[in-house]
Amino acid sequence: MDRRRRRTGALAGLALAAAGFLAAATAAEVAQPLQALHWVTPDADPVATFASQPTECLHTPADPAAAQAVEVGRAAFRTPLLLGGQAARVSLTCESCHRSGRGNPEFQFPGASGAPGTADVTLSLFSSHRGNGVHDPRPIPDLSGPRDRLKVAPDQLPAFIRGLIVEEFDGREPPPAVLAGLAAYVRALSPGACPAEARAPLRPATLLADARRALTAADRAYAAGDRPTAILMVAAARARLGLIDERYKALPAEVARLRAADTRLTALQQAMREGRADASTDLAHWLRDSRRLEAALAAREAASLFNPTRLKAAANRRLLLKPT
Ligand code: HEC
Repeated sequence: MDRRRRRTGALAGLALAAAGFLAAATAAEVAQPLQALHWVTPDADPVATFASQPTECLHTPADPAAAQAVEVGRAAFRTPLLLGGQAARVSLTCESCHRSGRGNPEFQFPGASGAPGTADVTLSLFSSHRGNGVHDPRPIPDLSGPRDRLKVAPDQLPAFIRGLIVEEFDGREPPPAVLAGLAAYVRALSPGACPAEARAPLRPATLLADARRALTAADRAYAAGDRPTAILMVAAARARLGLIDERYKALPAEVARLRAADTRLTALQQAMREGRADASTDLAHWLRDSRRLEAALAAREAASLFNPTRLKAAANRRLLLKPT
């Protein structure tokens, strides 16, 4: 997608913006090495933005049930399937805007943003319910606060987040534990829990660790008889594999491993849907085997787009290919 079209999208009315968005969605498949490059400002430095990520300011509660709620929310926050409509089609998640639960100063979605770092969450582009017909992008808030900078009171979070998912992003009604989990996750973010470093390198191991956490939450939800939540947690793990996959595109052996791991997760979702007793064993085997997968990925990491130099080269190629 070229800059000119982005600018037109930002200036024109909603109908034009939606048309620009659809064109962008098609162009993305051929032109962008990473899907997320598609919703940052064209001026964003791909290495500064995507070779690392902001650190997460998460305080995990000691109580096991409370910790499970936070983990469910953490995984759901990173799952495209939670949202519906256009957002789901382009794999947008809560985390696309609130990276690691924080802000995203580079965010610029064709037709849905004003200045970088803003988004209009009352836009009919995303929603068949809530579009207010007015383009009013707002800064994406850092959900870890400080509290006095946040507008939504902790007890209002479930209703607010449900509105975001169902009305703004046209998603389906989330399972109750997922909604409660998202609220618990947002509440567990706070400035006091921020690590010393503001950013951390983004590596395949980081994303696999997220996938394992999601699957551990899936296992607990399944054990508690909550199949819809468990299945969504497996979807969260699959989405993390997808983010690894896009950076190993040029490496067929690693892609084959990733696809095989994903196929096993699809089978796991089916086993959960059927309520099969062996689902938990399959999940444990997957977790065990993910260590081998991680080692194989690490061995070829330097040749993947997790290597900042390669990421930069791929993004530059995209600029050269870009129609002007
Ligand atoms: C397209 C970008 C985008 C996506 C996707 C998104 N948000 Fe937001 N979010 C925003 C913006 C912008 C605001 C500020 C809205 C305002 O100021 O009126 C916001 C506000 C919030 C707030 C209120 C913060 C406060 O001030 O108290 C919460 C909580 C929140 N989002 C959670 C979520 C969750 C959970 C999801 C996923 C279901 C999500 N967001 C998806 C952009 C996004």
